[in-house]
Amino acid sequence: MADLYVPVDHERGGVAAQVASGLREAVRSGRLAPGDRLPSSRDLATDLGVSRGVVVEAYEQLVAEGFLVSRVGSGTRVAPAAAACQRGPGGEEQVPYHDHRSRATSPDLGHFPRERWLAALRQALATIPSDALDYGDPGGIPELREELAGYLRRVRAADVEPENLVIVGGVAQGLSLVLHVLAAQATRTPQGDGFGLAVEDPTSHRQIPLLRRAGAELLPVPVDGQGLDVAALRDRPARAALVTPAHQYPTGVVLSPCRRAALVEWAQDADAIVLEDDYDAEFRFDRDPVGCLQGLAPDRVVLAGSVSKALAPGLRLGWVVAPPSLAGAVRLARGEFDLGSPVIEQYALAGFLRTGGYDRHLRRMRREYRSRRDALVRALAEHLPEVRVRGIEAGLHAYLDLPAGWDEHQVVEAARELGLAMEAVGPMRFTPGGPAVAAGFSRLPAHRAERAVRGLKVRMSGQTID
Ligand SMILES: Cc1ncc(COP(=O)(O)O)c(C=O)c1O
Repeated sequence: MADLYVPVDHERGGVAAQVASGLREAVRSGRLAPGDRLPSSRDLATDLGVSRGVVVEAYEQLVAEGFLVSRVGSGTRVAPAAAACQRGPGGEEQVPYHDHRSRATSPDLGHFPRERWLAALRQALATIPSDALDYGDPGGIPELREELAGYLRRVRAADVEPENLVIVGGVAQGLSLVLHVLAAQATRTPQGDGFGLAVEDPTSHRQIPLLRRAGAELLPVPVDGQGLDVAALRDRPARAALVTPAHQYPTGVVLSPCRRAALVEWAQDADAIVLEDDYDAEFRFDRDPVGCLQGLAPDRVVLAGSVSKALAPGLRLGWVVAPPSLAGAVRLARGEFDLGSPVIEQYALAGFLRTGGYDRHLRRMRREYRSRRDALVRALAEHLPEVRVRGIEAGLHAYLDLPAGWDEHQVVEAARELGLAMEAVGPMRFTPGGPAVAAGFSRLPAHRAERAVRGLKVRMSGQTID
């Protein structure tokens, strides 16, 4: 439930208009995001010290303007279309703030290996020369590029040398940089047309603003049980395609072998680039993960990965592996944007990889997450069999198809109160589909799964199940 600050000057009169104006501003500034639920008119009236009729009038006004939607049973919410009006102070589009507790994709940060990371930081500080603390190579310190190249060759079957690997501040920044470079190259072509980027439908909605800001025109392509529909991709005027082959977000499918081959063939025929977000590749529970696509076609595929799932998103450490000329352009762009990533953390990660700390941590977390996923799936099968679990046994989230008629946002909110992080799939779709959620199990201990699912069942029992 949104916690709202709405300034009201009781002396001034026109109180309903003031409340409407305060709420409109909260939506525009992104303090209220699409889908957020507003307090009941009674609660907000009590908080603001106004009569309930004043709040009802303000809500009705904003429903009429399209800022809010009101539905029997699910209260008043910020309208999905309100995203279009969200502006920063300079008139720029603004990414609404997302409460991290509702992220289905974060690891269990209570398991961050603090002691071993501290030891790696201490070791780095005790041994690096003072000169190493100066501005470094914007593409990353050689020691980390060397370690990561070895790791990605061994674990992800990547075709990589330290020279074509660039250290970045996470997959998000890696994609931004690569797209900036590709879009700038595209506008220099004689046709001068925009830069078409095929994206999976559904896809992570959080990435959309950054893709657009980097100059890409998004071309949605459906995802089915085998991953991206490459035949449909062939109809799009795309110069690049962004995919999550290891564990598609949010549907949880893995890109099938024949689709992998078809995607590479498309890239060759269309003289295009595949951007491989190596999402969730560390956590495959039923077998070893398939090697990355980049290993199959290193001249056509850019691989982007990070430590966000394996260690913590807050470290903001990731990598991009690209064909040599593109890697050089990305490194140059990074130097021009902000001169590179923090050096001490890069040395710490290099040491953590070299001493086997990274592998050991992953092995431990793989066992833990596997038992958490199993417990959630078991509890759903027993108590909510009408909810269907889709996707492979991998990653930090499971894709749940909800019964027709269920409200995704209501499920997400009920789940949050029960300690289960879920995200509605509706906002991730370009083409409408049935109700579904991405359910994050990483922070739900196995022994709490059954209680959480039973709680969800009780809270959703007022819903119609067709
Ligand atoms: C699809 C997808 N890819 C990658 C990431 C990770 O991004 P980063 O490495 O910048 O933390 C996320 C984070 O939520 C994601 O949803």
